[in-house]
Amino acid sequence: MTKQMKKDKFTVVSASDCRRENRKLSMLSVYDYPTAKYAEEAGVNSLLVGDSLAMTVLGHEDTLSLTMEEMLHHVKAVSRASQYAMVVADMPFMSYQVSPQQAVENAGRFLKEGRADVVKVEGGYQMAETVKAIFSAGIPVIGHIGLTPQSLGQLGGLKVQGKTVGSEKKLLNDAISLQEAGAFSILMECIPAKIASVIHESLDVPTISYGSGSDLDAQGLVAADVLGLFDLFQPKFSKKYADIGLGIQDAFARYHQEVVKKKFPGENHQYNVSEFELKKFLMYKNSK
Ligand code: KIV
Repeated sequence: MTKQMKKDKFTVVSASDCRRENRKLSMLSVYDYPTAKYAEEAGVNSLLVGDSLAMTVLGHEDTLSLTMEEMLHHVKAVSRASQYAMVVADMPFMSYQVSPQQAVENAGRFLKEGRADVVKVEGGYQMAETVKAIFSAGIPVIGHIGLTPQSLGQLGGLKVQGKTVGSEKKLLNDAISLQEAGAFSILMECIPAKIASVIHESLDVPTISYGSGSDLDAQGLVAADVLGLFDLFQPKFSKKYADIGLGIQDAFARYHQEVVKKKFPGENHQYNVSEFELKKFLMYKNSK
């Protein structure tokens, strides 16, 4: 990994500055120490430990089964890697929906134990009270609207949101309610670009796009998609910048072939012992 240049920590205030000064910022969903380290050293502004973890790393078919403890485990790893990037902990399903008190307690754990900088919750105006409680506890919070995979059942699948006037109006109302409740940023997932742009213009806080067009302040992608590490499906909005998965498979296949063909380990991958020690050992063995 390359040597890190000295720079300032990316904070809630930096995000607002970006919006005011019309500067774009980047976010990546990452879940482990090495990926977070590479992302941070590449200059990515914010690292979201997203609950997409459940599908891309833990092999679940959706995000619903992910627990607080599993999420904390990964948030800790990413926080250890991050000196400058803002670490966002995604609150897992049923860790904040039960009551505002439950939400504050669990959001607090992500800062206290996970060393995250901020938390993110899914849901629109119905989450305003919860967002207000988290904000009132002094915890920065991002509101996530549009495609909210934790409400998979209600949405009827992982579908683009905001394609009818009714749902567009709802999204605008969701975004404004969350901003008024104290969310310092609104993340929009899979909303048509022109609708997301109108919502962006109606807000004062920085906006984050995961598949919601180029007009928002930040762009976000899932690292597993960027790296070619998750091939079960590729969302339309994601972009593959590398085929690391195939690289891994190739390395593992060559290793396996070398083992079965007795080419690995070679001389330089073994530890040596002096002839003297070896002789002593053989004498000991032969005396048995
Ligand atoms: O879990 C995640 O990575 C997310 C983004 C897709 C917004 O929530």
